Amino acid sequence: MKKSLLLAALLTTGLDACQRKRHFHNQDGHAKRSLTPRAPLSADESLIIDSFDANSIDEWSYYYTHGLHLAGKNRSQAQWTADRWSEAGFNTRLDTYNVFLDYPINKSMSLTYPNGSVYQPSLEEDVLPEDPTTEYPNRTPTFHGYSFSGAASGQLVYVGLGQQADFERLLDLGVPLEGKIAIARYGGPFRGLKVKNSEAYGMLGTIILIVSYIIHSSQFTDPADDGNITVANGYAAYPDGPARNPTSVQRGSVQFLSTYPGDPTTPGYPSIGNPVRSDKSVVVPGIPSIPISYQDAQPILQALDGFGTPGIDVGRDDWVGALNATYSTGPSEAVIDMSNYMEDHYTDLWNAIGVMNGTNSDETIVIGNHRDAWIIGGAADPNSGTAIIVELGKVFGKLLQSGWQPKRNIVLCSWDGEEYGLVGSTEWVEEYIPWLSDTAMSYLNIDVGTSGPHPSISATPELHQVAIEQMHKVMWESLEGNKTMYDVWLEDTDGVVGVLGSGSDYTSFVHKGIGAIDMGSDQGPNDPIYHYHSNYDSYHWMANFGDPGFLTHKNMGQYLALLAYNLISEDFVPLRPMNYATQMDLYYTLLRETIANASANVDTEELRDAINTFSTQAVQAEKLHVQAAMSGDAALMKVVNGKYRDFSRGFTSQGGLPGREFYQHVVFAPGIDTGYAPVIFPGITEAVEAGNFSLAEEWVGKTARGILVAGDILKT
Ligand SMILES: *[C@@H]1O[C@H](CO)[C@@H](O)[C@H](O)[C@H]1NC(C)=O
Ligand SMILES: *[C@@H]1O[C@H](CO)[C@@H](O)[C@H](O)[C@H]1NC(C)=O
Ligand SMILES: *[C@@H]1O[C@H](CO)[C@@H](O)[C@H](O)[C@H]1NC(C)=O
Ligand SMILES: *[C@@H]1O[C@H](CO)[C@@H](O)[C@H](O)[C@H]1NC(C)=O
Ligand SMILES: *[C@@H]1O[C@H](CO)[C@@H](O)[C@H](O)[C@H]1NC(C)=O
Ligand SMILES: *[C@@H]1O[C@H](CO)[C@@H](O)[C@H](O)[C@H]1NC(C)=O
Ligand SMILES: *[C@@H]1O[C@H](CO)[C@@H](O)[C@H](O)[C@H]1NC(C)=O
Ligand SMILES: *[C@@H]1O[C@H](CO)[C@@H](O)[C@H](O)[C@H]1NC(C)=O
Ligand SMILES: *[C@@H]1O[C@H](CO)[C@@H](O)[C@H](O)[C@H]1NC(C)=O
Ligand SMILES: [Zn+2]
Repeated sequence: MKKSLLLAALLTTGLDACQRKRHFHNQDGHAKRSLTPRAPLSADESLIIDSFDANSIDEWSYYYTHGLHLAGKNRSQAQWTADRWSEAGFNTRLDTYNVFLDYPINKSMSLTYPNGSVYQPSLEEDVLPEDPTTEYPNRTPTFHGYSFSGAASGQLVYVGLGQQADFERLLDLGVPLEGKIAIARYGGPFRGLKVKNSEAYGMLGTIILIVSYIIHSSQFTDPADDGNITVANGYAAYPDGPARNPTSVQRGSVQFLSTYPGDPTTPGYPSIGNPVRSDKSVVVPGIPSIPISYQDAQPILQALDGFGTPGIDVGRDDWVGALNATYSTGPSEAVIDMSNYMEDHYTDLWNAIGVMNGTNSDETIVIGNHRDAWIIGGAADPNSGTAIIVELGKVFGKLLQSGWQPKRNIVLCSWDGEEYGLVGSTEWVEEYIPWLSDTAMSYLNIDVGTSGPHPSISATPELHQVAIEQMHKVMWESLEGNKTMYDVWLEDTDGVVGVLGSGSDYTSFVHKGIGAIDMGSDQGPNDPIYHYHSNYDSYHWMANFGDPGFLTHKNMGQYLALLAYNLISEDFVPLRPMNYATQMDLYYTLLRETIANASANVDTEELRDAINTFSTQAVQAEKLHVQAAMSGDAALMKVVNGKYRDFSRGFTSQGGLPGREFYQHVVFAPGIDTGYAPVIFPGITEAVEAGNFSLAEEWVGKTARGILVAGDILKT
């Protein structure tokens, strides 16, 4: 029982990075936990803890959140970041890529009722005098990055979360999809997949060209997603209180993230020089889409009331939301007219890079955060993380001045273009992969460093132990102040480290066989609403609601710095490959359950054997580690560190997953129809779910071989 509970939790707590949907554990019935004391700190660790300054983090946050920094629009912020790192003693540069992006020109939407009257949604967020950056004249309109330019009209169909299963359910209910306009709800799969699915189901008809122009997605965030903090529960809306401002809109990319991230025109190679541009239509939609607020959505949803199947009878999870509507399927009698125009550009992106060489030149720890935001603000996403890594650079400078020398190379990265589809980090990894493959030990990612006071982490298994250990060293000041980060985290998550899917810049590293951790601190069900990708993710919101005093920023910074410090400074890199065996045992149980649920007959013994072999070889590596530590033999230490650095490359040795060459890790990947959330043993699991059992068996072999290659690197 406990085990399957853990398995379920393991998958649902995957950090969705730019969009993180936390699943808090219900504490009812749990024994009240006693608080654990803070773990002892070394002198260097004390220096790290004491050097993080909430006031200077506040200052960095203010800087980033008061100028437009949409992807490719603000080189000076990249240079400014590099300059701060130079001051701290890093060697800095800007790495530039010329990539495909699109920017909004204009859009329109109207709903025409059968009686001829027309409803015109505003499609923009209210300007708030209290929140100065919401009224900047150069503020970004609401739009979807990489959305399609075109106009369309048709009756409406509500498609729930817009997963394939939602469309299948609509077809079962006899709801016509072709030629209709989809209205989907945010949540669940990555937004681009909602558009992808809408488009795919429209093409079931015969007049493909026309149909491809006339199924569309409008998307809105429903107050049912907001936990307890709603206007209906008596909370005032932002800026007067912590509830969602009714006009807030979630911008975001509609790239087909689960196929490949990065510049859509250069899959698998960097956008440098004059790259050959390939067909981008594989990963960008062929139908327009527009995001809207819940205030704008309400009349549109109400136009479906009385048409088709009422929401409560549809029987899909998360179908019915909290607006005053029945969430009926439609099609409506009322007709939507919409248009969306974008301008295409090939434009430069700037990654700021800061390097501090270690004494072991072939061992590297990379730390990254994206800098670009959809909006002028971006105080949570991503510049809470940006403020933190600027402060972190400063703290490593202080360590250096105190006489400390890094053993391993440290590379700080401030990515551009993450929001459109992890573009800056993907192009960078594609350029530097030979060097990264030779030297990278781990990649540490912080995207939304702070959108509330609840910390969480997702990581590849070899990082779990060291990541949890550091939590014992940080006092969590934004709550009662007497709890360690570990106590707070344990209470929220039952001690579960999430599995990495996609949605932030760790993706390209993981799928080249470089282990990674993603971290952040998020809103719980009783915290102020974080306006994701909205103008209200601003400095004013952060300073007054999200993190007054910047204490969570400071504590997350201390945590990231301690983790980095330990990975950089210990003689033996503190990674534990053995935990891969432990985790794969759990995943294997889950896989057998998936196969049983599908009533499939797939022989997975080869995978079982490979995990066992890996486990034996990981034990051998750990024995060698102990032997090297006891003997103090420097050459042996280098061998152990080399094995720990290299073994995870093995998991990516079998080529890409079916139909998506970019995604190479055989143990986990973002789901093809989730985009954010992870799937374990993806080659096998997705083939089983698609009912293709011969493909599943083929992938049992490939998955097993990847695990054996990884084990072979560990064996002694
Ligand atoms: C870039 O960002 C800085 C700091 O936020 C801001 O002062 C500047 O105006 C921005 N540049 C542009 C071109 O918007
Ligand atoms: C929107 O932009 C398109 C493309 O530039 C243009 O053809 C159209 O006239 C514009 N529409 C409005 C209402 O400005
Ligand atoms: C037309 O229908 C809409 C929706 O039912 C209604 O709100 C509106 O009042 C009607 N207008 C007229 C002029 O009857
Ligand atoms: C919402 O608030 C109520 C009353 O304070 C509380 O009992 C409930 O647990 C809260 N819901 C969540 C999801 O925390
Ligand atoms: C919900 O909408 C219906 C009609 O559309 C209206 O009669 C009712 O008063 C509304 N309820 C609330 C709580 O606004
Ligand atoms: C850091 O190391 C790289 C490669 O080993 C070398 O090219 C570079 O000159 C070094 N930088 C400094 C400042 O020592
Ligand atoms: C922790 O702090 C809270 C709030 O100040 C207090 O109620 C609680 O008793 C403290 N717990 C311990 C174990 O000190
Ligand atoms: C298998 O089916 C059971 C019952 O529907 C469900 O609770 C469980 O989560 C499923 N397991 C997997 C791995 O999908
Ligand atoms: C299973 O997948 C393979 C490889 O993609 C494909 O060639 C084959 O047609 C699929 N079989 C079925 C039954 O879908
Ligand atoms: Zn982000």
